[in-house]
Amino acid sequence: MYKQELAIIVQSIIESNTISNHTKCAKALSDFYKKINSVTFSQDNETAVSGGIALSSLGAADCVDDYLRTVFFIKGIYKALTKLCRDFPDRSINVLYAGCGPYATLILPLLPLFDKERINAVLIDINAVSIVSVQELLKITGLEEYQIQLLEADAITYTIPENFQIDLAISETMDYALKNEPQVAIVQNISPQLPAHGILIPQEIRVDFMYTFFDYEPYLKNAVTEVQDYNNLQSYPHGVFVDRLFTINKELFAKTNPIYKFESDFYKLPDNFKDHPDLCIFTEIKIFDDVELKTAESYITNPYCVASRYSLDHSEIQLVYDFSGIPQWSYNLKN
Ligand SMILES: C[S@@+](CC[C@H](N)C(=O)[O-])C[C@H]1O[C@@H](n2cnc3c(N)ncnc32)[C@H](O)[C@@H]1O
Repeated sequence: MYKQELAIIVQSIIESNTISNHTKCAKALSDFYKKINSVTFSQDNETAVSGGIALSSLGAADCVDDYLRTVFFIKGIYKALTKLCRDFPDRSINVLYAGCGPYATLILPLLPLFDKERINAVLIDINAVSIVSVQELLKITGLEEYQIQLLEADAITYTIPENFQIDLAISETMDYALKNEPQVAIVQNISPQLPAHGILIPQEIRVDFMYTFFDYEPYLKNAVTEVQDYNNLQSYPHGVFVDRLFTINKELFAKTNPIYKFESDFYKLPDNFKDHPDLCIFTEIKIFDDVELKTAESYITNPYCVASRYSLDHSEIQLVYDFSGIPQWSYNLKN
């Protein structure tokens, strides 16, 4: 019964093409999870690893309520899975989902749309509660007949078994401006394990540097109540694009030795900054193909203010993103 109900919800997500429908079906998915869930989540079980902080089970469950994030990731992953099924019609599609959380939100709802022989998935989370929860959900929804392996493991160091070639790797373990959570360290570990045809989701995380007025830029504070109005979001018209700092994709880490830091060039700070006094990081996500999350459409694409020009009396700045520990931004100055 639950399997059919889930199939109807996920079908509505895939067909949805207006903001009001996105909101409606994301809420339906969130309500569905809350209705069938039998596990108690805690906000005290965050895990710090070198590469970032894994959210608590409660924090991870709440991600379903970042409505456009949830809807667009599900749409993108459906598109990727459909392509892979077309490309490989005679075998199952191998999926690695790193950081599945307690709801496995980005794959579990899609299972009823595919024959059980077509999907072979490994789901990893560092949080034991997430693994127990997904196990329960598979049972309750009647989806346990699918080939799903659940593992409590650290996706930053996880090595896939020799007999498992990944067709699709999924990880949404990020905060805005790639702060705090270990998305980049996880992508760095998984990318070299992908074959040439393997798809990484998100396909691209683009990180840009801008001089702007932070308070006038769109910023999502409450996805449940605000997303309805997101069509009205306008970026601040006097913002100045400075540079693309880096793009996280599978190519970035495919062959290189591990790195733990991105250092930008030095950029000239504006002398006249009345209209754009803030130095900000903007993040946009290409989930798959044409499915994208733009600035402030979700918590994870909110802008981040690194510094104010008013507090800097130098003429040039270099931005540094360091993910050797808890990912964070800093800067170096010179005259
Ligand atoms: C932002 S939540 C997203 C949950 C779910 N994927 C979703 O999209 O709703 C990230 C999840 O990744 C897990 N995680 C973070 N770092 C991890 C790591 N290094 N290894 C395994 N799981 C990790 C967290 O425990 C959390 O459940």
